[in-house]
Amino acid sequence: MIPELFDVLDRVEETQDTFTLTLRHGGAESEARRFYDALRPGQFNMVYVPGSGEVPISISAIPDSLDRVVHTIRSVGTVTEKLKRIGPGGRVGIRGPFGTAWPVDRASGKNVIVVAGGIGLAPLRPVIHELIANRSRYKQVMILYGARTPGELLFRNEIDDWTKRSDLSVTLTVDRADSQWNGHVGVVPRFIALFDFDPSESIALVCGPEIMMQFTVRALESKGMTDESIYVSMERNMKCGIRLCGHCQYGPHFICENGPVFAFSEIQNYFGIKEL
Ligand SMILES: Cc1cc2nc3c(=O)[nH]c(=O)nc-3n(C[C@H](O)[C@H](O)[C@H](O)COP(=O)(O)OP(=O)(O)OC[C@H]3O[C@@H](n4cnc5c(N)ncnc54)[C@H](O)[C@@H]3O)c2cc1C
Ligand code: FES
Repeated sequence: MIPELFDVLDRVEETQDTFTLTLRHGGAESEARRFYDALRPGQFNMVYVPGSGEVPISISAIPDSLDRVVHTIRSVGTVTEKLKRIGPGGRVGIRGPFGTAWPVDRASGKNVIVVAGGIGLAPLRPVIHELIANRSRYKQVMILYGARTPGELLFRNEIDDWTKRSDLSVTLTVDRADSQWNGHVGVVPRFIALFDFDPSESIALVCGPEIMMQFTVRALESKGMTDESIYVSMERNMKCGIRLCGHCQYGPHFICENGPVFAFSEIQNYFGIKEL
């Protein structure tokens, strides 16, 4: 339960309200190694700002050097507003890594469909890095990403690089275009219908607002995918992060321990129930 101190090395403004922090463990080498070796795409850390509190934040990159961790944060309230004011030279507390990871091993030899909405690209970005780094392990790799407006799309430079690759299919969409936008307009789930893939040889990884995930899962099911091959990342308010407080209970599951990444088949009975 005791946070470890991390130094903020870098800070990048992604959008008007979202920023990325690169952090380095400030403690002994053996403690740092334990932390870095445990990091998996899909997991989260509890990020602590002294005097304000702690928030769960997903890992948004695991750099090759393996002595950094990256978080992309949208400022929405008390703690994230404080984090917004921290830059290089500052320090935060970290507990983690916690929770389940995206099933990267299960995806090997399959088509991989990555579907993200808004800040939901942050938890999926380390998976995309993994897919690119070991591209020959996977069949088709399809990335579908949407945001409300062009200005809210994250990691634009990186997405441009992905779009240029002939071994990735990248589809971007916005709910509301502006005068500069000449790409797709429409909500993310609509575009699943355009994808051509063998559902029995595919795995889908989905992260975004719950309503977007709900319609995306339906669209993937109507393409013939099974609920065992569709993975979603769930969010609930958290306090302890280690299955002690009960804040994140979701049916029989605790999202901090049994999630945040679930096969849809594990949670389909609870998904979409209001206030659960
Ligand atoms: C497993 C997990 C991973 C997450 N990963 C990221 C991430 O990578 N980047 C990121 O920016 N955010 C992420 N979040 C959401 C982040 O934890 C919340 O935005 C944060 O806790 C808000 O805290 P606050 O003190 O800034 O806001 P508060 O003052 O607590 O609340 C501000 C507003 O946000 C709402 N809110 C608070 N917590 C949540 C929540 N968990 N889900 C939805 N609404 C909430 C409140 O109802 C309120 O309306 C993640 C959450 C979980 C559970
Ligand atoms: S956050 Fe306390 S039980 Fe999950």
